[in-house]
Amino acid sequence: MKAVVYKEPFRVAVENAPDPTIKHPNDAIIKITSSCICGSDLHMYEGRTAAAPGIVFGHENMGIIQEVGSAVTERKAGDRVVMPFNVACGFCKNCLGGFTGFCTTVNPGFAGGAYGYVAMGPWVGGQAEYLQVPYADFNCLPLPQGTEHEADFAMLADIFPTGYHGAELAGVRPGESVAVFGAGPVGLMAAYSCLLRGASEVFIVDHVAERLGKAQEIGATPINYDEGDPVQQIKDRRSGNGVDKGIDAVGYQATKAGSSAVGGEQDEAPNIVLNQLIDVVNPTGALGIPGLYVPSDPGGVDENAKRGALSINFGRLFEKGLRLGTGQCNVKQYNAYLRDLIIAGRAQPSFVVSHQVSLDQAPEAYVKFDRREEGYTKVILQP
Ligand SMILES: NC(=O)c1ccc[n+]([C@@H]2O[C@H](COP(=O)([O-])OP(=O)(O)OC[C@H]3O[C@@H](n4cnc5c(N)ncnc54)[C@H](O)[C@@H]3O)[C@@H](O)[C@H]2O)c1
Ligand SMILES: [Zn+2]
Ligand SMILES: [Zn+2]
Repeated sequence: MKAVVYKEPFRVAVENAPDPTIKHPNDAIIKITSSCICGSDLHMYEGRTAAAPGIVFGHENMGIIQEVGSAVTERKAGDRVVMPFNVACGFCKNCLGGFTGFCTTVNPGFAGGAYGYVAMGPWVGGQAEYLQVPYADFNCLPLPQGTEHEADFAMLADIFPTGYHGAELAGVRPGESVAVFGAGPVGLMAAYSCLLRGASEVFIVDHVAERLGKAQEIGATPINYDEGDPVQQIKDRRSGNGVDKGIDAVGYQATKAGSSAVGGEQDEAPNIVLNQLIDVVNPTGALGIPGLYVPSDPGGVDENAKRGALSINFGRLFEKGLRLGTGQCNVKQYNAYLRDLIIAGRAQPSFVVSHQVSLDQAPEAYVKFDRREEGYTKVILQP
């Protein structure tokens, strides 16, 4: 089959890879209809992780079941399904607690597995024609048959639940005000989720015009951090007050004001968003941090950053009595509910999708998405 293979920093290629087969009676083989490129893929693509050449990317996968193993009981060939980016067993202690992002079965020696991701287990990515899914009854979320809402449902593999997770970690409640940092797909979904949960005012900070434009379309207030300190800009719009809750949808590759849209290590300040959140959130508030931080970053700006040790204003956090939550999203906690919002017509997360292209166009799509060029916000690959 054809698959998107990582070759070296800033280069992927579409190459032949082995067709997946049923290796365990719990497996299913999915014929992919949609697989998205994620901001998380860019960390590997840019060489900012330990990912080795040869890895097949793709953790946001959706398609039609082609074949199931003999132990799969609820799903069958022909079912239309979307898979959480987390690979999970459903029966370990963490899965039983709902923390499927920290499954201890699927990636022995580590809590958490994913398709096509460095250090997340042996699971081959789905930016390809076919995908092997283990524990298929648990990991395949059934969808209505047909082709309706394809782009909306594709967002259920990761970014819609992850944005929602940001709002959940921050405990966003009706009537609250929120500052979301990052207007990438995750930040846009976080802002959208806050509005779905009844937030009264949602600010969203970025410096990419197209992304801030999408934020405005859904009713969030865009803040361009190239035009001045974003904390001050938000306070100026709130008569000097901060906000109730904050969400970091940027992560460790945060860039300073005035850097190019492309970014680059020299422009980075991995602690900047965390410290701005501590400043802008009012005392007794909370921070949700779905943005990715890593314990080892070969391209880190200094020795501390290379080992994921960041300087954050913990004293101020304590003084303000702020709570925080972080980590991989447990997609299974949310995906069925968010699917039903889509079916009911009450959520349309596909507003973030800017490009739908064939698998063959993946190399070019990676380049443009990485440079945030031509409005590339969220790309769906369709084999
Ligand atoms: N926790 C999870 O389960 C999970 C799941 C998916 C993605 N992620 C992570 O979430 C983050 C966002 O993902 P994405 O797909 O939206 O990525 P993305 O790279 O497309 O978006 C990041 C955005 O942050 C903006 N940005 C950079 N520096 C900033 C700053 N100082 N202030 C405000 N905005 C700034 C960029 O311009 C960009 O638009 C990534 O770190 C990704 O790895 C986490
Ligand atoms: Zn993703
Ligand atoms: Zn498990």
